[in-house]
Amino acid sequence: MKKLHINTIGCQMNVYDSERIASSVQPLGYRLTDSPDQADMIIVNTCAIREKAVQKVFSYLGRIAGLKQARPDLILAVGGCVAQQEGEKILKRAPYVDLVFGTHAIGRLPLLIDKIERKRNRLVDIEMGSRIDEPEERVAAQGKSEVSRFVTIMQGSDNFCTYCVVPYVRGRESSRQPEKIITEIEGLVQNGVREVTLLGQNVNSYGKKEGLLDFTQLIEKINDINGLERIRFTTSHPKDLSDELIAAFGRLGKLCHHIHLPVQSGSDRILKKMNRNYTRDQYLDRINRLREACPDIAITSDIIVGFPGETGDDFVATADLIETVGFDGLFAFKYSDRPNAPATRFVHKVNEDDQNRRLQKVLELQENITTGRNRALVEQTVEVLVESHRLKPGKPAGGSTPDGEAANTASAGQWTGRTSTNKIVHMPANAVITGRAGAIEKGSLILVTIKKALAHSLWGVPAESGARNVSGSKGESSHAA
Ligand code: 5AD
Repeated sequence: MKKLHINTIGCQMNVYDSERIASSVQPLGYRLTDSPDQADMIIVNTCAIREKAVQKVFSYLGRIAGLKQARPDLILAVGGCVAQQEGEKILKRAPYVDLVFGTHAIGRLPLLIDKIERKRNRLVDIEMGSRIDEPEERVAAQGKSEVSRFVTIMQGSDNFCTYCVVPYVRGRESSRQPEKIITEIEGLVQNGVREVTLLGQNVNSYGKKEGLLDFTQLIEKINDINGLERIRFTTSHPKDLSDELIAAFGRLGKLCHHIHLPVQSGSDRILKKMNRNYTRDQYLDRINRLREACPDIAITSDIIVGFPGETGDDFVATADLIETVGFDGLFAFKYSDRPNAPATRFVHKVNEDDQNRRLQKVLELQENITTGRNRALVEQTVEVLVESHRLKPGKPAGGSTPDGEAANTASAGQWTGRTSTNKIVHMPANAVITGRAGAIEKGSLILVTIKKALAHSLWGVPAESGARNVSGSKGESSHAA
């Protein structure tokens, strides 16, 4: 048996693609290993969204170059968005790389690897089709026992935001057939999965081009899958967020109360230059409608600071929007030029110092808002899907847990899960073992009373009453360990 190590850099879609990659080379005898030192093949799955991610790829390649020198038989492959963007150039810049394969080449990977194994030649495959590369591999068959998994439902983007590299590295928008998506999720559920996150660059336009079901209809079908508990999705484009989808949050039992709705800027002038196709007021209107349909919905967003031409006033408008909405969480980025993206040619670039200051300001602002929102949950009882258990060896027990129950936390460890609103909740495992909830395991959906709010997570204990253990049938518990 041969060993494969995959280093995944970048977004959830890359995580999903890495699972596909692992499945696709299984027939060639490759099984996953966490250790690059023991691998017969190392695949780096890369991200091109910002300059920093690209630098990360090349510095990783530099670090593993020595492995190839020591073991010339080791196969090194670079896939994903940087591979798509740079192609041949990677072979020149990193002469120890054997294979460069683009975002549409995963289906062809077994053939490519087989060729390299037999002939030891160096290959590049960055051909892009217009249709989605429908996964043929059984992604479920990874022997994993995860509670929550990603499922890509569409690829590419037709939006052409002026800062964005996606259309050039992932191609144009194309949606998977609904039946294939449903079958895949049913397979995952049979393997113990309780939650899926549907992935696409702009899931709101799912199926439109092809005349398939629309996104809300797709979610309705997924909502009917027995044994599945939760549905999440990412990412939505504000301009395409439909009334039907907004209504679905209040109506479909499995649809989690969270939406990631990147706003990018609070200034209409900048939104226009970004080619976002909505105004600040339109964005705020959608937020209001979401909260009307689903009062406890959590809303997170992305912000780009220092877009070309962003003035102090534009930035003030962004800071003001952040406060007005009161996001539950925010990802903020300094603008960076990307190959082919039109904004790269825009004048009036914002200098690094101003970018840093603005980024810092956004992070501070949001930290306060997030902490306030988390504090509001203390003493509330929320439903948590338990995702993992962690023993924290060597850590002193003292004081880190909410309500003085810390005494034997160090030995029992902690359970971690998420609320429907996507907030991370830790629970001291001793509180579970000694008491009230009965046996908790991975995949349990339980009621938890929040006892303490930190900046990025919550601590809680299983609620006195009503803990429910939906995955409780013993037949399923084998997936829990
Ligand atoms: N510079 C900085 N941030 C960017 N993003 C996308 N392109 C760029 C860029 N060129 C951010 C956006 C997007 C997130 C995934 O990455 O905020 O929503």
